[in-house]
Amino acid sequence: MSGHLSITGLAAGYRGKSVVEQFTLAPIAPGEVVALLGPNAAGKTTVLRSLAGLHKASGSVKLGKQELMHLPLADHAAYVTYMPQALPDRVGLTVLEAVMSALRASIPAGMGPDDLLVAALDVIERVGITHLAARELGQLSGGQRQLASLAQALVRRPTVLLLDEPISALDLHFQLKVMKLVREVAAQSGMIVIMVLHDLTIAARWSDRIVLLSGGKVEVEGSPAEALTAERLAQVYKVCAAVSEGEHGLQIAIHDVL
Ligand SMILES: Nc1ncnc2c1ncn2[C@@H]1O[C@H](COP(=O)(O)OP(=O)(O)OP(=O)(O)O)[C@@H](O)[C@H]1O
Ligand SMILES: [Mg+2]
Repeated sequence: MSGHLSITGLAAGYRGKSVVEQFTLAPIAPGEVVALLGPNAAGKTTVLRSLAGLHKASGSVKLGKQELMHLPLADHAAYVTYMPQALPDRVGLTVLEAVMSALRASIPAGMGPDDLLVAALDVIERVGITHLAARELGQLSGGQRQLASLAQALVRRPTVLLLDEPISALDLHFQLKVMKLVREVAAQSGMIVIMVLHDLTIAARWSDRIVLLSGGKVEVEGSPAEALTAERLAQVYKVCAAVSEGEHGLQIAIHDVL
């Protein structure tokens, strides 16, 4: 089952306090990579958790003709996978066991135990952590755990993948490797990706569309060049920025705080 992801009028909050209001995006096509940006507390995690069915929200989230809102969580999880901002710390489980257990939770029809192992090892290899497969999660560094967490999300091959700051703990090599992998998977499989990032230059280079969230509302949605202007960065982030067109996309240098 696939089709465009249409998010209309999403609203969510905590104990009666509204955090996200009227979150509506233009339909997202299969294979499209969307970066969700915005200051701390803008509501990015709340949006992703709402889209994943993990947080109570109102509005409509449709995949093709299928309405996802208010589906039982297990049915919702068959379409959407969420990689949380917090790092996993399930002490005692190895990376391979953790990836296999993530896959087992949504096992595709006709997949036997051997296929499961092959699929898990393949994703672990693509993420670049084969050397860590037999290591326990609790004994890994922060960045290594983040890569394991990404492998757990990717192995499920969801129709919609939601990544909450997937490269926040990674070094420069792995930041780039993960961005390339995410784009590659999206292009090959038609997976829709929505990822929260704080690095604007990386977001501009690796996503098709930028959504800038501020105070729970969509400030702007568009191509990197449309969305990330110096004026808008001043307004939303309270920073003084220089934005220029570089060899590898937009270059954004932040000079000072306002
Ligand atoms: N469990 C909670 N209970 C009450 N309020 C919450 C809860 N989680 C988040 N909030 C509030 O909701 C608002 C949005 O939080 P959210 O985590 O969605 O922000 P964010 O954009 O992901 O920020 P960050 O960049 O810091 O991760 C914040 O004001 C936050 O304090
Ligand atoms: Mg967050």
